[in-house]
Amino acid sequence: MDRICVRGQTPLRGRVTVSGSKNAALAIMAASLLVDGKVTLHNVPRIGDVHTMMELLTDLGATAQFTDQTTVTIDASQVLSLEAPYEVVRKMRASFNVMGPLLTRLGFARVPVPGGCDIGARPVNFHIEGLKKLGASLHSEHGIYTAEARRLVGANIYMDFQSAGATQHLMTAAALADGVTVIENCAAEPEVVDLASFLNSLGAQIEGAGTTTITVTGVRRLQGGEHTIIPDRLEAGTFAVAGAITQGDILIEGAIVEHMRPVVNKLEEAGILVTPTDVALRVAAAGRPKAVDIKTNPHPAFPTDLQQPFAALLSIADGTSVITENVYESRFRYVNELNRMGANIRVSARSAVITGVDRLTGCPVAATDLRAGAALICAALAAEGSTELVGSEHIDRGYEDLVGKLRGLGASIQRCEWIEK
Ligand code: EPU
Repeated sequence: MDRICVRGQTPLRGRVTVSGSKNAALAIMAASLLVDGKVTLHNVPRIGDVHTMMELLTDLGATAQFTDQTTVTIDASQVLSLEAPYEVVRKMRASFNVMGPLLTRLGFARVPVPGGCDIGARPVNFHIEGLKKLGASLHSEHGIYTAEARRLVGANIYMDFQSAGATQHLMTAAALADGVTVIENCAAEPEVVDLASFLNSLGAQIEGAGTTTITVTGVRRLQGGEHTIIPDRLEAGTFAVAGAITQGDILIEGAIVEHMRPVVNKLEEAGILVTPTDVALRVAAAGRPKAVDIKTNPHPAFPTDLQQPFAALLSIADGTSVITENVYESRFRYVNELNRMGANIRVSARSAVITGVDRLTGCPVAATDLRAGAALICAALAAEGSTELVGSEHIDRGYEDLVGKLRGLGASIQRCEWIEK
């Protein structure tokens, strides 16, 4: 098991390049199972979750491999297995999104109830209800969903919540269904738009991605092709926090500012200088940030995935901030670790009240999930003294070479082998 050691209080400086979006790549890779031919994906991040998805696709009978540093080719012309193995699915929630493509290709699928980061209950009812509307019959037994459909048929689907994963899954499942599917109150995330662009480039007919109503007109076949994954707005947002919390001055190359409006807005409200250019985002800070209040919600509101890094930033703000988490019911488990570093955060139900302190101090901490890990690294970069973080495998699931990229910005950070005492 690796740990990450950080010596804090070095202002970050220089340039860092954002990798491809984890959440777009995973959905697009799962959707590649629909394609009867070769798919070449560029700008794929080399992260744990992508490797897990490649393992899953391979287990299902497709081929999936990196052909260079950021290019993955997938060939699902020979999908043989209709059963997704528990050992892989338990690691990652996005695995559930293979169910729709398997149903489309084989008329049958068996997929375990998925695992993933421990940040709330995370049921899959919207996925199930949506697939049922498309004509599938589904039941769950012994922790496995079994789905059957001779053919999926277009339908009107209204989602109670703008679920990113269910929107991506149902849009994918509807791409080859008979007739027209309308998904209302759906997610408008950039990763949903990227998936729609990918599917459309292969011959699908999807309209409205990026709004809360998507219309999918089913087509008979998707042909192979190429697609470049969008940059990861959540990685870019994490670097923005790392730059701001260390009172640094960094250029985040590849960040797309249109995908990051609520994040840029909150950074500016906190007194951080944010300068977008066509190809990068400059983030510079001098002095402590100002306190700001944040409410998370589906895009285009403030993303839940950045509330944890922002909590680290606001823990040293001048004043008291309130973060309200509206997407997950228990995404504040990392707060205890930040408090051990000297933060003053009190959680009550879905809100965290953060009373800014002058400084954080380094200590041993444990990452409980991906973004909690990112938040603790940001806190460690600003803290006085050294921090040792265990649970780095959570970070590796979703950030490509976070340690190397931060070192490139001048941070004193390294991986150290963990020796059990
Ligand atoms: N929900 C349901 N039923 C469902 C689906 C979702 O109740 O069938 C609830 C969830 O429990 C949650 C809310 O709806 O409370 C939103 O969940 P959503 O479906 O939007 O999330 P997801 O698709 O499972 C993706 C990202 C998450 C990110 C969320 C929200 C991937 C692989 N994961 O998850 O990313 O937090 O959207 O934007 O795309 C991360 O990157 O750290 C991460 C957790």
